[in-house]
Amino acid sequence: MLVPKVARHFSRLPSTNTALIDAVNTDQELQEGDVFLTDAQTAGRGQGTNGWHSTPGKNLTFSLLLYPDHLAVDALFTLSRFTSLALTATIRHFAGHEIAENVRIKWPNDIYVADRKIAGILIQNGLRGSKVQWSVVGIGLNVNETEFPPALRPTATSLTGLCGETLSLATVRDRLFAFLAHFYTATYATSNASLEALYHDQLYLLGQPAPYLHINTGERFTGIVRGVEQDGRLLLGRTDGGVKAFELRSLRLLRD
Ligand code: BTN
Repeated sequence: MLVPKVARHFSRLPSTNTALIDAVNTDQELQEGDVFLTDAQTAGRGQGTNGWHSTPGKNLTFSLLLYPDHLAVDALFTLSRFTSLALTATIRHFAGHEIAENVRIKWPNDIYVADRKIAGILIQNGLRGSKVQWSVVGIGLNVNETEFPPALRPTATSLTGLCGETLSLATVRDRLFAFLAHFYTATYATSNASLEALYHDQLYLLGQPAPYLHINTGERFTGIVRGVEQDGRLLLGRTDGGVKAFELRSLRLLRD
């Protein structure tokens, strides 16, 4: 059973993902469930070359260590699924049930409320051959953020922006830890069907036409989210009726 617990609490550091990976790689004594958390992250990392903005003391920025020996390398997207579900459950818990339908998982690693991003996930894995040695699940959840940088203002939100209250970071953290433990248990099931079904139903833009750019070819097209394959590829319906699977990082939603 996974029991997330804060192993190190930094008042300030560049990136909790980088710090935790450095610690794992230098053989420091760490256990599954150990969390590195910081009040102020000065060089937060996002997907690709993106950064992660968080005003010091306002939000949750932490990284969780896993040793997911039970998952094959080609099933590692399961980690994104369970983390996304823990985040959407936490957001629904604090932001109120009126917005429940609007809390969605934007493939592959973002959580949105309506059309605004509230959380991001950065999962990094250490592989040896075909085995997973460790996984670091980095989570940024906007909790009490009210001052987004101008470029993010139209597309970002926080729990306080949704419920109008200032929340205790420790309370939100503990609730998120409980949901992470709960959904991680489901990754041990012989079939991931229940995790996949829950994830599927919460996909952002599910069944809705939207404009996409296929980064590899430069093609722009209208696609309709139909689901996500077990290996993490996004299934997009095309206007000609066909369905195609797209690799991680091969696609950009043009409304971003
Ligand atoms: C994204 O939206 O592209 C992913 C953002 C992930 C941000 C979190 S904050 C804690 C952890 N440490 C990092 O440097 N990044 C992740």
